[in-house]
Amino acid sequence: MTTDKILFDRVTKVFPGRRGTGGAVTALDRVTLGVRPGEFLVVVGPSGCGKSTLLDLLGGLATPTAGQVLVDGEPVTGPGLDRGIVFQQYALLPWRTAAGNVAFGLEAKGVPRADRADLVAHHLELVGLTGFADRYPHELSGGMKQRVAIARSLAYDPAILLMDEPFAALDAQTRDSLQDELVRIWQATGKTIVFITHGIDEAVHLGGRVAVMTSRPGRIKQVIDIELGDRDAQDDVRSSDAFRHHRHQIWTLLRDEVRAAQSAERPVVPEEARVG
Ligand SMILES: Nc1ncnc2c1ncn2[C@@H]1O[C@H](COP(=O)(O)OP(=O)(O)OP(=O)(O)O)[C@@H](O)[C@H]1O
Ligand SMILES: [Mg+2]
Repeated sequence: MTTDKILFDRVTKVFPGRRGTGGAVTALDRVTLGVRPGEFLVVVGPSGCGKSTLLDLLGGLATPTAGQVLVDGEPVTGPGLDRGIVFQQYALLPWRTAAGNVAFGLEAKGVPRADRADLVAHHLELVGLTGFADRYPHELSGGMKQRVAIARSLAYDPAILLMDEPFAALDAQTRDSLQDELVRIWQATGKTIVFITHGIDEAVHLGGRVAVMTSRPGRIKQVIDIELGDRDAQDDVRSSDAFRHHRHQIWTLLRDEVRAAQSAERPVVPEEARVG
């Protein structure tokens, strides 16, 4: 019996090499990670360590080479409306307006037309895009497109939210307010969130737990419990001792991984040459 909402069970993902381009790439190597119901889990790791691959597997957009991904104890067999994904690169339908994109998941879920308009307007307002409802993706900036994608994934209310560096393209003020909004939504709805980021501060700020990955092939190096006390009671949580402690902890783990990756890529003097 599992109490995990999501379970990566010894998941390996190997991408076969293209003909003429050399060998296969092992993106993930026996990753085991459980995510509890209603948890806000943040994943950090060096570039190319397999974070997006992890999310694709959970989203049902790719299949593991070995091992399995379980949601509510059932193997993932494809995409589903129980899992909303915000991709690293905004993935909007170019022929639909901002409102049309947000409505998309609602239509798929069968929400009646009369309710759709209200939900679309509410979620566009949430991401600060009231007034842009009728714009097409090519008329929006990168950050605006990403906000439409966030609104779309929230609007149809999936139990699980998968977010791949969703705020990376945003200015600091918008990022801060969307972070706060996401925490508020998470607290209010009890969604299970898996959130990928490069930002250590963002990880400590948002995460109940932070999973730190190794450099490629990605494994789980350590999972850290974030203990910040009562966040609401603190004026500036980022300057607290606990926050700085966690920031340093994650920074050190990541630094060691980046160093390991760099030395692995450097040409090594053969053993015989050194001793001879
Ligand atoms: N479709 C694919 N075909 C072949 N190789 C792939 C494919 N997708 C990813 N990879 C490889 O798998 C590894 C992990 O990629 P992934 O995109 O998951 O990394 P990431 O941790 O999300 O990186 P970043 O932080 O830069 O977004 C990389 O070496 C990448 O080149
Ligand atoms: Mg990625």
